[in-house]
Amino acid sequence: MRKVIVAAAAAVLSMAPLLTMAQSPIIIKFSHVVTDDAPKGKGALKYKELAEKYTGGKVKVDVYPNSSLYKDKEEIEALQLGSVQMLAPSTAKFAPLGAKEFEALDLPWLFKDNESYDKAMKGPVGQWLFKKLETKGIIGLGYWDNGFHMVSSNRPLLMPADFQGIKMRISGSKIADQYFRNVGATAQIMAFSELYQALQTGVVDGCENTPSNYLTQKLHEVQKHITVSYHAHLQYAVIVNAKFWNGLPADIRGQLEKAMAEATEYTNMIAIQENEDALAEIKKTGKSEIVTLTPEQDAAMRKALDPVYQDVAKRVSQSLIDEFLKETRGATN
Ligand code: LMR
Repeated sequence: MRKVIVAAAAAVLSMAPLLTMAQSPIIIKFSHVVTDDAPKGKGALKYKELAEKYTGGKVKVDVYPNSSLYKDKEEIEALQLGSVQMLAPSTAKFAPLGAKEFEALDLPWLFKDNESYDKAMKGPVGQWLFKKLETKGIIGLGYWDNGFHMVSSNRPLLMPADFQGIKMRISGSKIADQYFRNVGATAQIMAFSELYQALQTGVVDGCENTPSNYLTQKLHEVQKHITVSYHAHLQYAVIVNAKFWNGLPADIRGQLEKAMAEATEYTNMIAIQENEDALAEIKKTGKSEIVTLTPEQDAAMRKALDPVYQDVAKRVSQSLIDEFLKETRGATN
């Protein structure tokens, strides 16, 4: 009898690690650099809610907002090392991944409007770009929208000459670096989390970003003049570590894909409205003077920034860029 009890106890004990394993959820660490109430922040929380629901708690998504875990460059390294599993960086920050084709998305006035952006990214351009990540050990799951950039400084920026000699913060894009240089400014790459203070203390004079990012980071409080130029587009690619993703059980991966598809739809649905509301909110604070370019100013800025199209064609390849432009510029036709 004693032997039987001992054997039974040993059997239960030997199963203990398995039982614990079966119960402990798969953790997805999702790091990003904006606040919880920016469109991307809301999208990440929506993904958490849906992923945990659809997997019946087998997956837990831990969202780390506002650079609380990693800053821009570090989070990309962390994804490659497997220290985090999911990110949604702006595609302007993809240079360290060596996927230079993403640079084309930063071209000024590439997308005519929100609709042409949406159509292009849902079509072959979006998929073609994701393919470029495959050899980097990264999988693209979806594109999250955050609208068009405004530009600001403590002096009005209305014509190319107004940029002469000022230092602009950029997020990582070689194209933005080039277009600001084309109008006589200098550009400095800086982490998003450092931007407010850098503007406040004069480390940089100006920046570009979307209305929802200005509002949620309070950038309008440290910039006297904002121009609603809408000169370039800010989009995020939600990316995962390929080894992690491919190692998931197929049923779980399917549920996570469904959660991602719905979180993507949600984020893209709220992004435009959030930007409109943010712009109205910024105007209401009266802290910054908001201007829109006249048709003449708009034309002068487009002309000054246009040479950057040749730069990107040289770096990426003219024929690829031609194909790309057919999709993006012809997207509403
Ligand atoms: C920036 O660094 O300006 C943006 O990419 C931040 C973000 O994620 O929206």
